[in-house]
Amino acid sequence: MKIHDKEFVKYITSDKISETLKKVALQINKDYKEKNPLFVSILNGSFIVAADLFREITLESEISFVKVASYHDMESSGDVKKLIGLNEPIFNRDVILIEDIVDSGRTIKKMTEEFKELGAKSVEVAALLFKPESLLVDLNVKYVGFEIPPLFVVGYGLDYNGLGRNLKDIYQLKP
Ligand code: IMP
Ligand code: MG
Repeated sequence: MKIHDKEFVKYITSDKISETLKKVALQINKDYKEKNPLFVSILNGSFIVAADLFREITLESEISFVKVASYHDMESSGDVKKLIGLNEPIFNRDVILIEDIVDSGRTIKKMTEEFKELGAKSVEVAALLFKPESLLVDLNVKYVGFEIPPLFVVGYGLDYNGLGRNLKDIYQLKP
């Protein structure tokens, strides 16, 4: 299958994804029994994971959507990331961040710190995919659908230069 200039091959089927998400949800339902967590989906990539995971959650819970805006700070040399779109009070909440994929871990590490600064009681991460070998920061991803090698993948919300998010299965770059 071709997206832009690259060939991709099927890697994880939609059946396997939904089976795995059900297991992740079951664990969250168990761990957060008697709590009412606030799920926060990190856009754009996680909108499909969030929709499917959230429908398996049986807890009294809310969901919110945020974006991470990257902008280049002229003063410092690094890429500064900023959280936009959050309207809910976070103080004293049990927050579960939903990500499509954790790669270097920088995005989710920054998000975790932001939510802690806003006074969250707890912050955990639920990611459909996790590339442990690519991790560059100290981060604990509590709920993981699939641990994968450092491959480039698309589908099920994940894109290659804007395309491929609507694919039902996950594809990897053809080796
Ligand atoms: P991190 O901050 O390096 O963990 O980057 C995470 C973000 O990079 C994800 O939310 C994705 O948007 C993007 N990303 C990382 N790996 C892939 C991939 O294999 N395919 C598509 N997007 C990816
Ligand atoms: Mg993303």
